[in-house]
Amino acid sequence: MKLPLLEDLGDVRGRNVLVRTDFNVPMSGADDARTISDDFRIRAALPTIAWLTDRGANVVCVSHLGRPKGAPSTKYSMAPVAARLAELAPGVEVRENLRFLPGEEGNDPAFVAELIRGMDLYVNDAFGAAHRAHASVVGPPQFLPSAAGRLIEREVAVLDRLRSTPKRPFVAVLGGAKVSDKLGVIDALVKVVDRLLIGGGMCFTFLAAQGYSIGDSLCEPDQVEHCRTLLREHPSIVLPDDIIGLDADGVYATFGKRLPDGAKGMDIGPGSAAAFGDAVMDARSVFWNGPMGVFEDPRFAKGTRTVAQAMADTKAFTVVGGGDSAAALAQFGLDGDVDHVSTGGGASLEFLEFGDLPGLEALRKAPNVK
Ligand code: 3PG
Repeated sequence: MKLPLLEDLGDVRGRNVLVRTDFNVPMSGADDARTISDDFRIRAALPTIAWLTDRGANVVCVSHLGRPKGAPSTKYSMAPVAARLAELAPGVEVRENLRFLPGEEGNDPAFVAELIRGMDLYVNDAFGAAHRAHASVVGPPQFLPSAAGRLIEREVAVLDRLRSTPKRPFVAVLGGAKVSDKLGVIDALVKVVDRLLIGGGMCFTFLAAQGYSIGDSLCEPDQVEHCRTLLREHPSIVLPDDIIGLDADGVYATFGKRLPDGAKGMDIGPGSAAAFGDAVMDARSVFWNGPMGVFEDPRFAKGTRTVAQAMADTKAFTVVGGGDSAAALAQFGLDGDVDHVSTGGGASLEFLEFGDLPGLEALRKAPNVK
């Protein structure tokens, strides 16, 4: 996909550049004393910021943080982010949370006008927010010469390659709690992958669609029919053969595909974890999104850990969609061992599904793009 890049902005010396970053970082601590748990997304914006400041531009970063729903709150203040960026890139302004005003999510033209006041150029480097048609994502490129930052450039190149010209076998591993969040991307991925391995809470709706009893495991009954159709039409979909969970008395247990009444599946079983790991090892391209179980609890982390380890060990080109799978990789200390960890959870899935995002389309229509 051809996007306007930083080089297309011309001479940036002395120019005021509005940079939409995705500084939506995980935070912890009390509402009035929040600290950053992982500054991955802040560090990911540094190449773009450095490119601009090295050339004499005045950089103003804008981002959302959390979901404050159009009202200011201490909990979602950008202050800790600004403090961290001041250490990493001194002299760069960070404005307060875009979502403190309803105009951001409402894509209000007056909000856009305020945002670009005094600005000469716009750069979008917020890959994680590029699937949102919000004011700061789609508004400024209607008025200012614009470019994609280095992070968006790389994210799009990697995901585009995976979507259009993957080396085969191409294996996707999907997990996470809700199947309804992933059906769009599953529908798209089954058309391009050689195997689609499904674990996590969402596997139980698929197992229910195959007629297995799933006890008290997560299930979305209104999605069962969709899952049944997918399984009928795509033999490339692979489900776990064994499950780890808690029985009706809350005791840790390993089950086959059939869970007894009252049992709750919490992770894929050892046989399935080994099979998923082997599929990743044998692949030449792998996309992984979503944990295989409740990995935050060490009793239910083995499935996710096995997939993460295979992602680190395989010779395949490996891409991890952001969010929980990126957090899992980091928890296991393997985040440096894959080819690409996307900064966008929802955005990477939507890109794989549609091949485009509102924020990218807006950049391609900017006034400096012929
Ligand atoms: C993310 O964390 O995936 C992005 O920052 C987007 O956040 P949102 O889902 O609240 O729009």
